Amino acid sequence: MASTSSGSSYKEVAQRMKLIQEQQKKVVENMKKIKYKIAVLSSKGGVGKSFVTVSLAAALAVKGRKVGVFDADVHGPSVHKMLGLPTGLGLPARADGTIEPIEVPPGLKVVSVGLLLPTDETPVIWRGPLKTSAIRELLAFVDWGGIDYLLIDLPPGTGDEQLTIAQLIPQLTGVILVTIPSEVSKSVVLKAAAFARKLNVPIIGIVENMTYFECPDGSKHYIFGKGAAKEIAEQFNIPYLGEIPIDPRIREANDAGKIFFLEYPDSKASKAFLSIAEKVMEIVEKQGGAQAGQGAQ
Ligand SMILES: Nc1ncnc2c1ncn2[C@@H]1O[C@H](COP(=O)(O)OP(=O)(O)OP(=O)(O)O)[C@@H](O)[C@H]1O
Ligand SMILES: [Mg+2]
Repeated sequence: MASTSSGSSYKEVAQRMKLIQEQQKKVVENMKKIKYKIAVLSSKGGVGKSFVTVSLAAALAVKGRKVGVFDADVHGPSVHKMLGLPTGLGLPARADGTIEPIEVPPGLKVVSVGLLLPTDETPVIWRGPLKTSAIRELLAFVDWGGIDYLLIDLPPGTGDEQLTIAQLIPQLTGVILVTIPSEVSKSVVLKAAAFARKLNVPIIGIVENMTYFECPDGSKHYIFGKGAAKEIAEQFNIPYLGEIPIDPRIREANDAGKIFFLEYPDSKASKAFLSIAEKVMEIVEKQGGAQAGQGAQ
């Protein structure tokens, strides 16, 4: 039988291609049911993308929106842990082949590869195509049950996962960029902005995390520098969504699997997330997501 260089028969390759096309169709149908699909992006690691994703999701839910969170960080999933869900919990599969998200307060629906891994120490050693197919299958078969917003947490960089999300999800409402004020982070987030532009994905705005640390006497210390996100917002003509201070309770809550936004609603960070949620709602619901970030040239 004729075979490809990888040893598969041409018939097998054709079958596989057909399956992929069918799944892609399912992704399109499934994603059409969700009004706003927003990916959280930054080329740099550890700047707080996952924290921003879950906090913004919680803030949108408190504002009365139905929200889902999809952790597309296949190698380092952390959203489930920040939301208090153990690795290995699993995702309920229904008889009709659809997958049910796990629901956590305040009514967030969560899907993460982390829920499917046996332990925290289990490394995901997948090459690009396998990662792409895992993301595609979850996007195709999860029944999000009538949510308004799907927030997608991405790993750092502009690789397989980012490309898969940008290319698979039709009418991705846009991306939210996250940076810290350092020059290094700034230069790297510019790459993420350029990536979004290249793929014609609107930029909804930029969030600056770890902007300052406030001492008990009220003095503010700009540990990583000052003004980077505002400069990027001006340079790219994109909305500046807000700033989140450094707060040791954030790290503690995230590590303990407690939702910071719900544990400390009166903190400056949580209030900032409410304001960011309002801005995002204003941009995507009133102005229409397709226009957001159009000025980014
Ligand atoms: N404003 C903040 N103040 C204090 N700690 C924070 C703040 N934001 C995030 N953290 C902590 O910093 C660490 C990195 O945050 P997070 O995991 O959200 O970053 P990330 O950008 O998603 O990382 P990765 O690139 O690995 O996915 C976590 O321990 C988190 O709890
Ligand atoms: Mg992360």
